[in-house]
Amino acid sequence: MQVLESLLNDFTKELGPINKIADLLNLKAKYIGKQGPLADVMKNLKDATPEEKRTIGAKANELKQSIEALFSKKMQELELADINASLEKDKVDISLTDSVMEKGLQAAGYHPVTIIQQEIEDIFISMGFEVLDGPHIEDDYHNFEALNIPATHPARDMQDTFWFADKKHLLRTHTSTIQVRGMKERKPPFRFVGPGKVFRCERTDASHEMVFHQLEGMMVGENVSVGNLIYFMKTLLTEIFKKEVEVRLRPGFFPFVEPGFELDIKCLICGGKGCSVCKQVGWVELLPCGMVHPNVLKAGGIDPEKYNGFAFGLGLDRLVMMRYGIDDIRHLHGADLRFNSQFKSF
Ligand code: FA5
Repeated sequence: MQVLESLLNDFTKELGPINKIADLLNLKAKYIGKQGPLADVMKNLKDATPEEKRTIGAKANELKQSIEALFSKKMQELELADINASLEKDKVDISLTDSVMEKGLQAAGYHPVTIIQQEIEDIFISMGFEVLDGPHIEDDYHNFEALNIPATHPARDMQDTFWFADKKHLLRTHTSTIQVRGMKERKPPFRFVGPGKVFRCERTDASHEMVFHQLEGMMVGENVSVGNLIYFMKTLLTEIFKKEVEVRLRPGFFPFVEPGFELDIKCLICGGKGCSVCKQVGWVELLPCGMVHPNVLKAGGIDPEKYNGFAFGLGLDRLVMMRYGIDDIRHLHGADLRFNSQFKSF
C-alpha cells in the first residue's frame, strides 16, 4: 500500500516537465508497464491475504486509472502542441497582403491582348458592329464544313487541328466559326466582330503560338464591296496605331472568301528592314480578308443572289507585338511578371 500511495505523487512530479511524446510514453511504461512497480505489486498479491488482495487490488486499479487519465490528458496536450508547431512551420500566407495589396495594385493591369481587344471592340461598336462570342470547343461543321472546307479539301491541312478522341469535335482553329453562328441568327443587313482564343497544333517560334487570339469581322448586306472592306480595315489600323501605317494587299487563298486577300503591315519592329518577327521580309501578315464565298452565305441561310459581304480574321497577338514593339510572341503568355508589369492599365 505504501508503494502504491507514493506512486501517483512520483508520476505526477515526473510528468510535469515532459514536453516530448516519446518521453511521455517511456514514463507511462516506467510506472504501469510490465516491468514497472505496479506490475510488481500485482505479482506479489498472490502471497497476500484475501482481505489485503481486495483492498490492495482495488487501490492498484484506481491508481492505474488515474495514471492513464493523466497520461491521456498530457498526450492530447503534446499532440496539439506538435500540430500547432508544424502548422506554424509550414505556414502559407494566403492573405495576399504581400502580392496584391502591397505590390499588385501598382503593377496590375489588363493583359496587352485584352487591352487591344477592348480597343478594337470599341472602334467597331462605334461603326455600328455588334460584338459576338462563340465556343472554344467546336464541331467539324462550324469549323470547316459550313466554311466551304469539305473533309477532302486540302485547306484543312493548313490548320493543324487539335481533335477530340471522337474525331468529330475540335478546339476551334479560327474565329471564323463565329461567322457561321452569327449568320444563322441574323437577317441581313448585319455587321459584327467576334474576338477569342484559337488553338493550333503548331511548332512555336517568335511569331507562332499554339494558343493565340483572333478577331473575326463580318459585314453582310446589299452591294457590299471590296472598297468597304478596305475602308474598315484602314480605319481600324489608323485608330490602333494612332498614325497612318503602311499596308499592302495581296491575293490570298481561303476557301470561305472569293476573292481573298492578305493585308500585311510594314513591320514596326524593324521598320521593314527585316527581323525575326517578319521573317526577314519586312512585312507582317496581319489581316487575311475577302468577300464572303456564296457557299458560306448559303450555309448561313442567306441568299447569295441578293446579298454579299466581306469578312476578315485579325491576328490579335501579332497586332499587340507591332503596337508595343514586342519581338517574341512567347512573351505574351510566358507569365513573367517582369514582362506583364510593363502594361499598367489602372
Ligand atoms: C484564318 O484563320 C482565317 N480564318 C482568317 C480569315 C477570316 C480569312 C475571314 C478570310 C476571311 P490565318 O490562318 O491566316 O487565317 O490566321 C489569321 C491570322 O492569325 C494571321 O494573319 C496571323 O496574324 C494569326 N496567326 C495565325 N497563326 C498564328 C499562330 N500560330 N500564332 C499567332 N498568330 C497566328
